[in-house]
Amino acid sequence: MRNDAALAFLRSRRSVAAAQLQPPGPTRDQVRDIVATAIRVPDHGKLTPWRVVAFTGDAGARYGEALAALHARIDPGVPEKKLAKDRERFAHSPVVLAVIARIDEQHPKIPAQEQLLSAGCLGFNLLLAAQAAGFAAQWLTGWSCYDRAAAALLGLAENERAIAYIHIGNRGDEPPERNRPDVDAILGAWHG
Ligand SMILES: Cc1cc2nc3c(=O)[nH]c(=O)nc-3n(C[C@H](O)[C@H](O)[C@H](O)COP(=O)(O)O)c2cc1C
Repeated sequence: MRNDAALAFLRSRRSVAAAQLQPPGPTRDQVRDIVATAIRVPDHGKLTPWRVVAFTGDAGARYGEALAALHARIDPGVPEKKLAKDRERFAHSPVVLAVIARIDEQHPKIPAQEQLLSAGCLGFNLLLAAQAAGFAAQWLTGWSCYDRAAAALLGLAENERAIAYIHIGNRGDEPPERNRPDVDAILGAWHG
């Protein structure tokens, strides 16, 4: 059955820059609801190749501090501006949900790419669920997604990597809309 409310919601889907997010963010129960809603994602082979690590309260600020300290150790010449960015990003957002992809590279049937895409679906569904719950959100990544020492800060296993930090909060003023791709420019047809 056609669901006009759902279509209107999808057409209004958008991110709000993490720097613009304000408290209050979702409560612990709301975080659980957002995650419970978002985990209905396509998952070839039902491997559940993902999990979520939540930063609430002062956890984001502490993680940002730990990242900045790690950054300074890895690259002693890193400009202070970059260290400040490490700290502020996580300290500013009321709630951050890190999506952790758990990839079985040797799986006999399901290619690693499909497992990673399932984790990507979870990232996107978290954005949708957060917006549907009345919050604003943005998917950020950054160097820590690609660094094993940063992965250790998150307590990740060898086959795990952070693929998304979903920053969630209340949005302030209506941010400007960005240009969207033209559907006719990306929708083609196969002519044999
Ligand atoms: C995998 C992935 C990683 C991203 N990482 C960043 C990032 O680190 N910094 C950033 O400003 N935007 C990043 N973005 C883009 C924003 O999440 C978002 O798409 C952008 O602000 C446009 O907003 P929209 O979702 O309304 O189109 C990323 C998007 C994806 C899919």
